[in-house]
Amino acid sequence: MAGPSADTIKDVNTRYHDVAAADYDAKWGISYEPDGQAQVTGKLRKALGAPLATYERALEIGAGTGYFSLNLLRAGVVEQAVATDISQGMLDALSASAADLGLADRVETVRTEAERLPLPDDSFDLIFGHAVLHHLPDLDASFREFRRVLKPGGVLAFAGEPSHYGDRLAALPKRAALTVAPAWRRVVGAGRRLGFDDPVEQQAHALEHVVDVHAFTPNELGGFARRAGFEDVRVAGEELVAGWFGWANRTLESTAELKQVPNLWFQYAYRGYRALKVVDERVLEPRLPAAIFYNLLVSARAPGSGGRSRTRRMNGAALRSETWESGSTPSPSFHSGS
Ligand SMILES: C[S@@+](CC[C@H](N)C(=O)[O-])C[C@H]1O[C@@H](n2cnc3c(N)ncnc32)[C@H](O)[C@@H]1O
Repeated sequence: MAGPSADTIKDVNTRYHDVAAADYDAKWGISYEPDGQAQVTGKLRKALGAPLATYERALEIGAGTGYFSLNLLRAGVVEQAVATDISQGMLDALSASAADLGLADRVETVRTEAERLPLPDDSFDLIFGHAVLHHLPDLDASFREFRRVLKPGGVLAFAGEPSHYGDRLAALPKRAALTVAPAWRRVVGAGRRLGFDDPVEQQAHALEHVVDVHAFTPNELGGFARRAGFEDVRVAGEELVAGWFGWANRTLESTAELKQVPNLWFQYAYRGYRALKVVDERVLEPRLPAAIFYNLLVSARAPGSGGRSRTRRMNGAALRSETWESGSTPSPSFHSGS
């Protein structure tokens, strides 16, 4: 049976994300403080497989509320950003946060689909995105656009893309969490969330199957970049045990009235996730094939050398900001994909 058309996918994506924009940052625990900057610079460095440079002009695809753009601007990795998205609701939230953070003059928003960018050729040193490629119906057309607007020698990096096997493995902790959720709510003393499983919510879940178009193998993901003429294509995987832990906890939290969940739970969830992430990064990611991790990251370089001369290597400043402020209150969940 044929799936939904490209136009339907884009239309549903726009409506779904317009609605999601209002509480997106809270839902995903998005922070623009040092912990958020550390997450984002860490993912970009992992995607590139190299120390970070400073990029003068960067373009984000599917920027959402600004998780990547605003954190990269704050961390000094990007000097000027153009944040694009198909959802005006998401871009409005991004602009509001940019104004609050004093970044309004360093980021411009453009409402557009990734497959047709209303931007000039050879105009960016870096193109990046997080948790967006799996929403795009025509990835070959999108990568051709990325290549067109990237300067020669410019760099492309995407993170947070669901992997084919990782996505299937993540279903197990989600199912297990739903089974134990009533007992968990009793233990932490939280009530069942009003509206959980109501028809509107079920409809929103049904839409997820329309907006999430792909889960990738590393070869497939790299293939889009190669076919568009990129060089130095690199695909890596991240998050295995941290992903299972995170998905199980997020699923439990989604069933409860969050205000009634004790802060101690969030401390445990955050610290547990951080500890398991260290296990993933130090033990599993260097040893296991990218295909089995929950998230894939892809990076590549446009042929030529012009873009490279316009970037500077960063000193250690951004790397040193990678410490979680132990006094801060962790957010309910951590944004590691969608
Ligand atoms: C899962 S969200 C990720 C947002 C943000 N990158 C983050 O990590 O928080 C996916 C984003 O991609 C956008 N999107 C979906 N389809 C798109 C398309 N065809 N072109 C551009 N953006 C699209 C959505 O509106 C949404 O903001």
